Amino acid sequence: MECGGAAAPPHGRARARARQRRGGGAGGARGPAPRAAAGRRPQRRDAGAGRPVRRREPRLDGRGRRRAAGRAELRRLARGASRGRRPRLGARRRSVSAVTAAIAVLAPQVADQIAAGEAVERPASVVKELIENALDAGAGAIRIEIEDGGKSLIRVSDDGAGMTRPDAELALARHATSKIREAADLIGVATFGFRGEALPAIASVSRFELETSSDGDVATRLRITGGKRESVDDAVRQRGTTVTVRGLFFNTPARRKFLRAQATETRAAVEAVTVLALTRPDVAFTLTSDDRPLIDVRPTTRPLDRVHALWGRELADTLLPVAYREGPLEVRGFAQRPAQAKPAGRKGYVFVRGRPIRDPFILRAAEAGYRSTIAPGDRPSLILFLELPGDAVDVNVHPSKLEVRFRDKFFVEKVVEEAVRAALGPLAAAAPLGAGGSGLGAGVSWDG
Ligand SMILES: Nc1ncnc2c1ncn2[C@@H]1O[C@H](COP(=O)(O)OP(=O)(O)O)[C@@H](O)[C@H]1O
Ligand SMILES: [Mg+2]
Repeated sequence: MECGGAAAPPHGRARARARQRRGGGAGGARGPAPRAAAGRRPQRRDAGAGRPVRRREPRLDGRGRRRAAGRAELRRLARGASRGRRPRLGARRRSVSAVTAAIAVLAPQVADQIAAGEAVERPASVVKELIENALDAGAGAIRIEIEDGGKSLIRVSDDGAGMTRPDAELALARHATSKIREAADLIGVATFGFRGEALPAIASVSRFELETSSDGDVATRLRITGGKRESVDDAVRQRGTTVTVRGLFFNTPARRKFLRAQATETRAAVEAVTVLALTRPDVAFTLTSDDRPLIDVRPTTRPLDRVHALWGRELADTLLPVAYREGPLEVRGFAQRPAQAKPAGRKGYVFVRGRPIRDPFILRAAEAGYRSTIAPGDRPSLILFLELPGDAVDVNVHPSKLEVRFRDKFFVEKVVEEAVRAALGPLAAAAPLGAGGSGLGAGVSWDG
């Protein structure tokens, strides 16, 4: 913001100068100036910024008068100053002037579309947000349907807590969340969501429909198109929620152009479901793409069974269990036997307090644990679940919630490396997991 004036395009500067000349004249000339400006740009007033801007007028004009009086002095100073100083003086003067007419509070719909740019990048991000909401609502089974890679349709149905009508209406408002009440609640937040942004963001860039019931008796259907509420009706459905998103980015063509081929978007959606299915083996997931079933996994208490259901024996049988603890950090999961690591196609997943995150450094630390047991260029599959106290990690780093910030990153990386090394340690003696070897055992639940 500070450099807005300096960075203004040349015609913007010229306009600012012209405005300044008008505003800096005799007292009587100052009155009509804001009206003229408002007439030229009526939307600025509509946006709700009218009052504060008007209140600022006299102050700014006062400054303008002072500046007018001191302009000759400024010019003299500027002439006398070094070449580098001249534009800076001018830039500062223009930026103050430009603020008068340039600031407006964005309409909520526009703000939602901008938020959507961060949290909703492609169909897979919608799939991710909707599944996270379903998990947060305590769903035991989640059904996902996509068509045309999610570009024409995404539907996520759950059997979770559902919403009452007032809650459903509120859920579509920006920053409306049932998951936190104050910033302090972010410390150790246990739900996937907490920003209250996903639903309004998605609804602002699609034809959106929400059907929900909190008791299986009364149900609500809410329709929103491009952020505009179309209807709120009675509906019939069991307890739970179904969100249908059609025509994603239909009203933001630039965004829509960035969508990839159907196969690519489908792959990304499959990946989004896979990641969340990994972190919650106790929940059933089905994904169909153009009516073809792509994922169908039942609830299980054994994480390895989930890995098996998702990728088959071929991968599951090559994994060694990781179970390691140092101080506050516990690392569990699976590391591939070095002999089975391949140069391509590895699975690499890191979860922190049950959240999938993207952190190449942690995966690299885990690979360091292999030392020389793998051939150069081979990449082992790794599925790692990190548990540590809520105050040791900040999850509110980015709207997509795929990054976290550790209080002590080096400690985390060190422990991950040691955890993998320890898992590979008894390598020679360990029997394959699939053959009833040294897995974490049926009694171990990862969902607590
Ligand atoms: N599938 C769902 N089942 C029940 N409640 C939901 C569901 N999806 C969304 N909600 C409600 O709507 C609110 C807003 O959702 P969202 O915009 O994703 O924000 P957040 O998840 O960050 O709270 C949630 O806090 C929750 O109360
Ligand atoms: Mg959410």
